[in-house]
Amino acid sequence: MNTVDLARRKEAMHALNPFAPGAGRQPKELVGREQELEIMDRIIARTKAGYSDRGLVYSGLRGVGKTVLLLRMKDMAAGQGLITVRMEATGNETHDYELLFDGISKAILRERRGTLRQKMLDSLKHVNEVSLELGLIKTSIGLGNEDKGISSDSLRLEMMVEELCRELKKEGSGLFLFIDEFQVMSSDLMGTIIGLQHSMGQEDLPFYVIAAGLPNLPGVLTKSRSYAERLFQYKRIGRLPEDETRECFEKTIGKINVRFDDDALNRLIELSKGYPYFIQAYGSAAFDESESSPIPLSAVIKGEPIAQASLDSGLYESRWQRARPLEREYMRAMASLEKSVCSSAEIAERLGRPPADVVRVRKGIIDSGLAYSPERGLLAFTVPGMGDFIRRAAPSEEQTYDDRA
Ligand SMILES: Nc1ncnc2c1ncn2[C@@H]1O[C@H](COP(=O)(O)OP(=O)(O)OP(=O)(O)O)[C@@H](O)[C@H]1O
Ligand SMILES: [Mg+2]
Repeated sequence: MNTVDLARRKEAMHALNPFAPGAGRQPKELVGREQELEIMDRIIARTKAGYSDRGLVYSGLRGVGKTVLLLRMKDMAAGQGLITVRMEATGNETHDYELLFDGISKAILRERRGTLRQKMLDSLKHVNEVSLELGLIKTSIGLGNEDKGISSDSLRLEMMVEELCRELKKEGSGLFLFIDEFQVMSSDLMGTIIGLQHSMGQEDLPFYVIAAGLPNLPGVLTKSRSYAERLFQYKRIGRLPEDETRECFEKTIGKINVRFDDDALNRLIELSKGYPYFIQAYGSAAFDESESSPIPLSAVIKGEPIAQASLDSGLYESRWQRARPLEREYMRAMASLEKSVCSSAEIAERLGRPPADVVRVRKGIIDSGLAYSPERGLLAFTVPGMGDFIRRAAPSEEQTYDDRA
């Protein structure tokens, strides 16, 4: 085969690359989440039968597949004709309320059953009229036992959800709220949503919060409302075990009748460590470096620096650059310990500072979602491989990383 033919063949093969590295990109093969999808099936079946259930909360590190799982669950519920609203919390309360109200309106408009749609539109109209009147009270409405009172947005959301769920229950349907990055939501709005899951459950109305976020999410929820503990099923999602990682690589390319040589596959399993984002990145680069099936080890090796670069830009660099200089210094000390979980005291010691001096920096890192505390006094990165990245690629502050960019 001449070079022109070879180049064409390579190009044709690349066009078929089935790997999908990138935040929220739906993988060709969603591996290892069968149990979660079964849980969703059950919730859907129960909703249709008129039962209510607890909500679901998924927590896990960056890149383990929380968003794609949420999207898949949303498709399942929407496919069964249920009302689904999806939002990614931003932490800006006004904006998050807008996303919610907007999402609810659009979800109603998507309802195919004309009578139900009309009933829900009527409910919405009624709630909007009432809240317009309440909106005349500009600030907040004190309701006795609440410290801060309830904002009119919160009251409007509560009325809306209740009215809609009453209509939906009559039709064997339900309202599903899929919230991604739930841990960053303002505590007032989060409290309102938890309160809704609670009160709708008490009234046996079909309202479900299905949420995802970083490992600190369960703690943030119980801090917001202590009773949040019993309102949700809490599930951790993480990396895939070796057999499922293998299955993921094989099935992803099996769909287009391509396979990996055994040594290529073993190397990919080792490189990815079972992290879904890594699987997609290393798989994609190896695929692009090969010309034919089976994909050889040489293609995996050639693809390694390319995959590494795509992970650097997709997972690490922007987060590192957004951190403040003191936070970077702290994270560099953390990375230098070369442990998956570090003690805060050890980090302070490495920095040569008393722990109390660096408490605020530590908090800043946790608040911005770069690290979390798996246990009191301990700290771990939320991004798998962040420590390796810092040791490998993060230049020292003297070189002023920002200026370099
Ligand atoms: N079960 C899975 N099987 C195969 N690939 C997956 C799976 N879950 C996720 N992926 C892939 O992993 C990558 C990251 O997925 P996703 O964005 O859902 O992660 P995440 O947990 O939401 O990350 P973040 O915390 O950064 O938002 C995507 O490329 C996606 O296609
Ligand atoms: Mg996500």
